Amino acid sequence: MRRSLAAGNWKMNGNAELMEELSTLAAAQPDAGPDILICPPATLLSQAVEVTQNSPVRIGGQDCHAAPKGAHTGDISAQMVKDTGASAVIVGHSERRADHHEADSDIRAKVEAAWAADLLAILCIGESEDERMGPDTLDIIAAQLDASMPDGATGETLVIAYEPIWAIGTGRVPTLEQIIETHDMIRDRLVARFGAEGDKIRILYGGSVKPTNAAEIFTAQNVDGALVGGASLKAADFQPIIDALAKA
Ligand code: 13P
Repeated sequence: MRRSLAAGNWKMNGNAELMEELSTLAAAQPDAGPDILICPPATLLSQAVEVTQNSPVRIGGQDCHAAPKGAHTGDISAQMVKDTGASAVIVGHSERRADHHEADSDIRAKVEAAWAADLLAILCIGESEDERMGPDTLDIIAAQLDASMPDGATGETLVIAYEPIWAIGTGRVPTLEQIIETHDMIRDRLVARFGAEGDKIRILYGGSVKPTNAAEIFTAQNVDGALVGGASLKAADFQPIIDALAKA
């Protein structure tokens, strides 16, 4: 019922070599497969859109400002992301929450900005290692979700990415039971807030997803795909993850 989604977040990586990888990836996709989204740095968005134009691969930004325009040196608006030909934008990644002190209320405003520009918002949430060790992990994630998500979300406008901070770039992943428990909680919360529409919102897992662990993670009923960092930089690493999702 929900279309699965393999999303790649290149973070602050991107050069001619990576554009070649993107071109290889785009050429390898059949027409019918999971949705595929690559989020390169803002400087490469237009080029990435061009490279993937005759393929099923879609392009997204990694962040946007909450305001439509104005005196915000170095920032880009959601409409600017849209103007490149991109169709989505990541908001609230833990690296932005940490590096740029973004709070849930800031992220909520960015989701609204993304919607105003007709972009799919990929909203990231996830706990720190200390929070995972404590007794209130699920409550903490639920609170983050509730505060970052505006009203009126639909399956067409919002994707949730659950990314435990301690699993990002570390090679460590939660147990399958922890992933199932967390994604089930997120699903319950989406349905409680948005009714039937909450069942259409996709929930991605992110944090050290690799060709070696993807298939197991995708067995979870409420895991609708992945948000992949390091393993999205090479077509040879990302393709097996897409393939595992296609088979799930
Ligand atoms: P890694 O796949 O490199 O752990 O990164 C995950 C991530 O942060 C994607 O947004």
